[in-house]
Amino acid sequence: MIKEDKLLAAKIKELKKKRNAVILAHNYQLPEVQDIADFRGDSLELSRAAAKTSAEVIVFCGVYFMAETASILSPEKMVIMPDVSAGCPMANMMSAEELRKLKKEHPGAVTVGYVNTSAAVKAELDYCCTSTNAVTVVNFLKNEKEIIFVPDKYLADYVSKKTGRKLISWHGFCPTHVKILPEDLKREKKFHPLAKVMVHPECLPQVVALADAVLSTSQMAKFAREDPAKEFIVGTEAGLIYRLKQDNPGKEFYLASERAVCPNMKRTTQEKVLWALEELKEEVKVSREIRQKALLAIERMLKIV
Ligand code: 13P
Ligand code: SF4
Repeated sequence: MIKEDKLLAAKIKELKKKRNAVILAHNYQLPEVQDIADFRGDSLELSRAAAKTSAEVIVFCGVYFMAETASILSPEKMVIMPDVSAGCPMANMMSAEELRKLKKEHPGAVTVGYVNTSAAVKAELDYCCTSTNAVTVVNFLKNEKEIIFVPDKYLADYVSKKTGRKLISWHGFCPTHVKILPEDLKREKKFHPLAKVMVHPECLPQVVALADAVLSTSQMAKFAREDPAKEFIVGTEAGLIYRLKQDNPGKEFYLASERAVCPNMKRTTQEKVLWALEELKEEVKVSREIRQKALLAIERMLKIV
């Protein structure tokens, strides 16, 4: 860390103590943000950390739906985002109104929604899921006749193949993960024939088909630690590489595509974190009515896993 960064990090640490705050960061955050986080993880782990913390303030370094989820799980805590304009385009691809319409078209279907949805959409769900547990949640619903699975069509495709269930899906997708192409994996495999290929289930089906393992971001961190392979091709957002290299100094990690960068995940910086702690802004709150309904879907997921 350079001198100014150290100074900034020290100021953040001091203010964090004064505010009784905890900093949660997603695995895709900039290295400078990962460095000052009390906890970094995937969507499921961050939800759990938010529910467990005894801090009064949660500084959420990630995207909007993640901060909303933290607020749903910990309504008595103040959840703030250093850059509240960091949204998830996939989450914005489905509105609550659209989901209500889809449910009307399939009366009796059980509704499962990826955590990458707004709180208003979660309030319409029976079950929430994350990339870590989507297959487990759908398998749990084996006695249900019809399952709606939204909003990611590629995650739905992956889950459908893994569970053998036909799913009613939506046309959402992650604009970052679809930038990873099969030819990227083929090229990297040629350069690094001994490397294991791990990809995120938000990737295109043609990319998923070429992978050795299909995993959430923290599952990738675990796989990289535990697998005997010394080299890995990583098919997800670029930010994860920092953590993978830090955790495994003796191993090599190759990003499948340099284009796999989520601009929203890069909006948060150390300076914005300091400002957020100083001003206690911007607060993310979910209305009581939405929260109560959305909580049911999240709690049902947490009970299954
Ligand atoms: P993870 O839950 O695997 O961290 O994924 C979150 C996400 O937004 C992927 O694009
Ligand atoms: Fe959303 Fe994709 Fe960015 Fe994840 S990587 S926050 S799914 S846009």
